[in-house]
Amino acid sequence: MTATTTAPGALDPKGATSAAAAGAPAIDPAHLAASLPLDEKVALLTGAATWTLRSIPEIGMRTMTVSDGPIGVRGTGEDGLASAQLPAPSATAATWDVDLQARLGSLMAAEARRKGVDVILAPVVNLQRSPVGGRHFECLSEDPLLTARLAVAFIDAIQAGGIAACVKHFIGNETETDRTSYLSRIDERTLREVYLAPFEAVVDAGVWTIMAAYNGLTRDGVEATSTAHEPLLSGILKGEWQFDGVVISDWLATKTAVEPAIAGLDLVMPGPGGPWADGLLSAVESGLVPESAIDDKVARIIRLADRVGALSGIVGETLPFDGTGATDDPAGDDVVALLTDAAARSTVVLRNHGGLLPVDPALRGRIALIGHNAVQPFTQGGGSAFVTPPHVSMPIDALRTAFPDAAVDLLRGGATTLRAPLAPAELLTTPTGEPGVLVEHLDETGEVIGSHLLPDAEALWFPIDDDDVASVRLTTDLRLTRPGRHLIDLGPVGAHRVLVDGVERSASQHVVGAEVILDSSYANPEHVETAIDADESRDVRIEVDAQVIDGESYGRFVRLHFRHLEPSPSVEEEIEQAVAAARQADLAVVVVGTNSETESEGWDRPDLQLPGRQNELVRRVAEANPATVVVVNAGAPVLLPWLDEVAAVLWWWLPGQEAGKSLAAVLTGAIEPSGRLPWTLPASEADVPVPHGIPVDGVIDYAERLDVGHRGWDRLERTPAREFGYGLGYAEWAYRGLELVDAASGTDFAEHDAFVTARVTVENTSARDGREVVQVYLSVDIAPDATASDAARPVRWLAGFAVVDVAAGGTATLDIPIARRSFETWATDAATWTLPEATYRVQAGRSSRDLRLEAVQTVAG
Ligand code: BGC
Repeated sequence: MTATTTAPGALDPKGATSAAAAGAPAIDPAHLAASLPLDEKVALLTGAATWTLRSIPEIGMRTMTVSDGPIGVRGTGEDGLASAQLPAPSATAATWDVDLQARLGSLMAAEARRKGVDVILAPVVNLQRSPVGGRHFECLSEDPLLTARLAVAFIDAIQAGGIAACVKHFIGNETETDRTSYLSRIDERTLREVYLAPFEAVVDAGVWTIMAAYNGLTRDGVEATSTAHEPLLSGILKGEWQFDGVVISDWLATKTAVEPAIAGLDLVMPGPGGPWADGLLSAVESGLVPESAIDDKVARIIRLADRVGALSGIVGETLPFDGTGATDDPAGDDVVALLTDAAARSTVVLRNHGGLLPVDPALRGRIALIGHNAVQPFTQGGGSAFVTPPHVSMPIDALRTAFPDAAVDLLRGGATTLRAPLAPAELLTTPTGEPGVLVEHLDETGEVIGSHLLPDAEALWFPIDDDDVASVRLTTDLRLTRPGRHLIDLGPVGAHRVLVDGVERSASQHVVGAEVILDSSYANPEHVETAIDADESRDVRIEVDAQVIDGESYGRFVRLHFRHLEPSPSVEEEIEQAVAAARQADLAVVVVGTNSETESEGWDRPDLQLPGRQNELVRRVAEANPATVVVVNAGAPVLLPWLDEVAAVLWWWLPGQEAGKSLAAVLTGAIEPSGRLPWTLPASEADVPVPHGIPVDGVIDYAERLDVGHRGWDRLERTPAREFGYGLGYAEWAYRGLELVDAASGTDFAEHDAFVTARVTVENTSARDGREVVQVYLSVDIAPDATASDAARPVRWLAGFAVVDVAAGGTATLDIPIARRSFETWATDAATWTLPEATYRVQAGRSSRDLRLEAVQTVAG
């Protein structure tokens, strides 16, 4: 560990003002750490609560607060404040725009200050190794270079705002299936060149904290969980890369006291309790863990406190949180404008036959807006990244505003979710006639020892603080107001008994614990569905006994889904209505997509299908009206079998709170949808190089080695529906020239100095102003024998990119520096980077398979 001293009032390397304000003494974290008693030092290494760290008043250090990202800053969940909800990272990555990432990072910093947060648990720089990965939407890209560059810009901006970023999940955490137990087997070269690459870039750029993942890694013969992997944490991260920040365990990931402490983990989250609270002090006292290791961890936490302004530097006096002055409003005009721009710019034009798009805002006549996702846009994926936005801009409202002379009709076209909606509050009454659900608290013997009321079914996650309460009994009368078939869907987590109108529908003695928080049963509980045919309005008595779950540091709580589907038209009837409306319309806009049952942390998708009958809906609408635009509202790839049959297709992602506004801006062309796919869109499941990440005997073998994402498609010579980097935008482009020039001095990257610069000239040949994403790829053209035998080298790899705005008919020349690292490979035997002697082909173009220009770069041995 290297102790650093911050000069009074100095800027730290990333530009945030140190807490050591002018005149205050310089902070020496190592010295301060060593000055503390052992028990206090050890106590600091476990969180104080789910989202907070302990304070140390003796050295003027206040509590620090952490919060999830990367979709927004949720906060501790206790402030009741809404959070600005960004488009998903896979969306913003589609802009390929580092300046936009920086603006979003600045917004995250402002949100963190507003919510009293010091550390944002974002970004995710794991790669989209398989399209079915549950957290695919939370990752940026399948490509390591694109991921690294965007993450560096995002982190730089967050930390320039005095807030720490926590890059995650270190490492090999590309799968959700069995996520707390699998081991990723990644060979050393692949680890270095692909999966470590984005982490190395952000560490090089100065990230302040990093999260050790749930899964384990096998490397150099060492098999260990990420939180206890010494060669990874102490060897590479803190040794080779000289990381001087804090290694934080993923929530509940740390299982033992000694191994993680020696391996290089610094902070166990959440707290209180856990393996370090229980066993670390005695392990140090008995000599199993050296005190110097503890001092190093404490010094890192003190350094973090200094960086985020949580250290007054004055003994006995702690600083208040200084974020009170930041009053940014997540619904304010500037935030709305930024998030609209980000979602619109992310949108990828996959097809635009006959120039149907953009649509003239002066359009008269009718627009049929169709789809379950049009009625209820899926703005964010599920899991820990979830935030509550101040509002969601709805497509119907935005289209009505954007097309003032048209009549816009909204039709669902058939439900796509398997599950019913949450039971509405106004239909629930307790046995004593109050609105809501009665919750009786039962002790071990089943005796009622207390009660409370729940106003609605939204809150069917609730804490139970009293340790004597072993289970609860929920009772409510659900009013069936309409004749027809009602579906009642109840999903309690853990031991339970469910009665509907006095009839037992489900029972289980299986008591569960904190482990459910990390698996899919928490967010997506198994459920029991009861169909009731009602002739007239009547009440149905619902009674559910449910265990109280001991969530360890998450506290004790009850978890239950309570859903109710009223009699409604069949999917077929709704599709027919939608088709009829499309036939009468001048324009049909069909929003298809995934939903909260499909994309979430906690599970991987079983396939790449759009849920429900959406493919049929698209085909029938497009047949009824050739002027059909299909909008895909999904974060991760889904198969679009009609892609080349309909007039226009937009990939609209999980667009965040400004969903509707962004869609309207894209349809009218007010903002050009200049997105380019940051991953490959398959045409069929059979083609996908890595179709799943299901562990075999607990191990996920990264057998495709360096060929992640588009590299795998190139290696296997398979043709996707749309390749990596694809996106039409609204302008047209000619590539006029590519020249290789010496790297400009002073240009550098997080991942090392520029080696050569690709100077690319493009012309906007259209009558519209437009934005182009110029992409530069490398491949080995001619290699001497040694390199020629390097069969593992990808067929082609991304080496640089730049975004440029060019006026209609205009020309622009861009300098795209290519880092030395882009030419290098990892020599496993020598354990070092080498620059293989070869003649490289440098290609520039519009996507990984639309390469328009070529030059040659020779690298001498
Ligand atoms: C997730 C992390 C997240 C943490 C805290 C974990 O389950 O893997 O990404 O930051 O929970 O919510």
